[in-house]
Amino acid sequence: MTDSTVYVLNGPNINLLGTREPHIYGHDTLADINARLVEQGKTLGLTVKAFQSNHEGALIDWMHEANATGAKAIILNAAAYTHTSVALHDAIKGITVPVIEVHLSNPHKREEFRHKSYIGMAAMATIAGFGARSYTLALEAVAAL
Ligand code: DQA
Repeated sequence: MTDSTVYVLNGPNINLLGTREPHIYGHDTLADINARLVEQGKTLGLTVKAFQSNHEGALIDWMHEANATGAKAIILNAAAYTHTSVALHDAIKGITVPVIEVHLSNPHKREEFRHKSYIGMAAMATIAGFGARSYTLALEAVAAL
């Protein structure tokens, strides 16, 4: 059974948004982004549950929870784990909830080690390069699923 809950999961160092390399990631904090998503969710009839962890396993646990509770979708910025984590890749494969990969920056325009995405290889779709708007675009797309 699916409900109208959307999990927004952020990985390592995303808690530092606002002061972390603002020329790449912008000046919005994660709290700013999450507050906007909660408000946007209200207009779309979606309940946004936002979590951030610097630990891979915590992200996997929330993905399992989203799946077990019948969430509508997961919006995932796995941050650096995007480029390393077979465990997150397998978690996406192991659940039925659609996962939308998001990035603030466009990893393909950046260093070569960011060009490979274990998330993108398993996710339903990817939105990248729009800064904080990547998240709001993802939520808008989720509403139409
Ligand atoms: C990021 C891109 C990743 O390559 C990087 O490791 C991040 C943030 C983004 O949102 O642009 O931490 O996921």
